[in-house]
Amino acid sequence: MSSIPHGGKLVSRVLPPERRAEAEERIRSLPVVRLDARQLSDLQMIAQGAFSPLEGFLCREDYRNVLRHMRLADGTVWSLPITLAVDAESARSLKEGQEVALAAPDGQSVGLLELEEVFPYDKEEEAQSVFRTTDPAHPGVQALLQRGDVLLGGKVWALELARGEGPFGPYWLTPAETRAEFARRGWRTVVGFQTRNPIHRAHEYLQKCALEMVDGLLVHPLVGETKADDIPAEVRLRCYEALLGGYYPRERVLLAVFPAYMRYAGPREAIFHALCRKNYGCTHFIVGRDHAGVGSYYGPYDAQHIFREFAPEELGITPLFFENAFYCRRCGGMASAKTCPHPPEDQVNLSGTQVRAMLARGELPPPEFTRPEVARLLLEAASGQKAQGR
Ligand code: ADX
Repeated sequence: MSSIPHGGKLVSRVLPPERRAEAEERIRSLPVVRLDARQLSDLQMIAQGAFSPLEGFLCREDYRNVLRHMRLADGTVWSLPITLAVDAESARSLKEGQEVALAAPDGQSVGLLELEEVFPYDKEEEAQSVFRTTDPAHPGVQALLQRGDVLLGGKVWALELARGEGPFGPYWLTPAETRAEFARRGWRTVVGFQTRNPIHRAHEYLQKCALEMVDGLLVHPLVGETKADDIPAEVRLRCYEALLGGYYPRERVLLAVFPAYMRYAGPREAIFHALCRKNYGCTHFIVGRDHAGVGSYYGPYDAQHIFREFAPEELGITPLFFENAFYCRRCGGMASAKTCPHPPEDQVNLSGTQVRAMLARGELPPPEFTRPEVARLLLEAASGQKAQGR
């Protein structure tokens, strides 16, 4: 019994193999839109059903409703605009009602867009609604400002199902595949964990508290684009493997990757992350301190408060909220303000910046903060970067 996909059914917009040759032939005479890495990620996420019920890039009505009400035009909850922006010049040659070929950044054909609408949009309004700020220093706003000025809406088809390369390959599971795996393991309840970081003791604590209450844990790191100072996905993957191998019961945990990119939209992204994990079959989803946040644009628990704006049945996935977790020396274990009475001096609580500084000095972060196996891999990666002059 995994959860019902958002909107009722799992979308698949991958062309059936028997239609592929004919589509590739047709593509040769179609106008082409070349996608950047983020747009390609969106296409792949839509195609494999991770963004169900979306079948394509948003058209005007859905777009407007998502910005203003966090819902599609039919009322279904959806918190982030999934759009295809192009520059006005390229949009001029495209006509509503026609098909458009979609190409990867390297020029290779990857899909088709059934172009329904071409429409302008207001970046300032989008920034304010989605990110709660128009500050160009916010990484999400910055990316938005660099995009084209016109949106192309319509359903898409991917020519084939994307698969992860290299070390990501074995962990690249589609929503249909994670669902099948949960069923095979007999998990009735599954908690999803989103992360863009190595898993430190605080993350581990949240996961294990949650796992005490449900059948299985989906460790679901985001492996699309992140900001430059986040730890690269390849390094993180090695850390996850080491941690899971040493500290988690194999039969209770599934590691798979989430090939979306980070928006840093805090509260709205928390809703989005939860709905996507519902599509992967999770019944529960962890939301801790400053989920998908950046800098000080959001309050530490805004990403939890936003869940109150929706009825539980509209979301269809149960959020599990956690307060800031830390290691307390007096308690001799992980804790939070909810469970520990001791003063901050007893806490081991390092910020990302502090950890980066330690690694740059060649110091291992302490075992109260991160498992030694993970600390060693991070140090190795940091000294490799230093040697390359980065
Ligand atoms: S995120 O951008 O993917 O949310 P991160 O990988 O840091 O960032 O966090 C993953 C999840 O763990 C999020 O739900 C976040 O709120 C939570 N989290 C991270 N660190 C802590 C902590 N010390 N205490 C409580 N929750 C935390």
